Amino acid sequence: MKIKGKVTVPALQAMKAEGKKIAALTAYDATFAALEDAAGVDIILVGDSAGMVMQGSHDTIEITLDDILVYTRNVRRGMKRALLAADLPFGIAHESTDATIRGCVRLMKEGGAEAVKVEGAGPVLEPISRMTRMGIPVMGHLGLTPQSVHSFGGYGMRGGDEAEAERIRRDAVELQEAGVFAIVLEKIPQELAAEVTKSLHIPTIGIGSGPDCDGQILVSYDMLGLGPKFRFVRRYLEGAELVTGAVQQYVNDIRGGIFPDESESYNA
Ligand code: KIV
Repeated sequence: MKIKGKVTVPALQAMKAEGKKIAALTAYDATFAALEDAAGVDIILVGDSAGMVMQGSHDTIEITLDDILVYTRNVRRGMKRALLAADLPFGIAHESTDATIRGCVRLMKEGGAEAVKVEGAGPVLEPISRMTRMGIPVMGHLGLTPQSVHSFGGYGMRGGDEAEAERIRRDAVELQEAGVFAIVLEKIPQELAAEVTKSLHIPTIGIGSGPDCDGQILVSYDMLGLGPKFRFVRRYLEGAELVTGAVQQYVNDIRGGIFPDESESYNA
């Protein structure tokens, strides 16, 4: 069931209490943001996945705060109803608590974000706790945190062994205590995601973590079939085929003298 009116942090938390599922999706431009917003998405995330799907990077390491700010402003202009969250990119949380807060404040002040997402726990708990006490809504992100791809050695499932599963359980509780309003659980076993979801009073948003999370998020380009296929992604459109087919038709029509025709031309 769709929240009536503007989606807010308390409204999302009430959805968990009422057993209503949260639908989240990424966006990077005003056109897609407007379409997703009109279709009833609750959270639009300007993910650092923009580095891969918009900029063609192999990972989410290269993208900068200034880049994310551009995408966040684009999305802000296109949407009205959903909650707009933006990712704090790689490197800033590694610097200091002050740098983390400065980065997140920029995402809100200059980008128009209503919430920020910060990957990990441990050393980032301190800035997260300061921000949430200041009134900055923060979303956590555990499991396969793509900014750690080089330590993980790839994009495989996390939390498959008991030691790592236990760390994820503990990190989730510590993030909740630090005041995050929701936690993204990426690519962890579905039993672990169900357990973490049950143990928290804040919503979990799953990606590749099974059906028992309080909500789901996907990279929009993946679910629209514009990128490579992944096991955890359901493709709701074969976008790449449709776009390529349309562009091929356009090229053929120009070459064949079929486009433009009389109705597509002006007369004095
Ligand atoms: O960067 C991103 O798009 C993300 C989500 C898919 C969770 O972090």
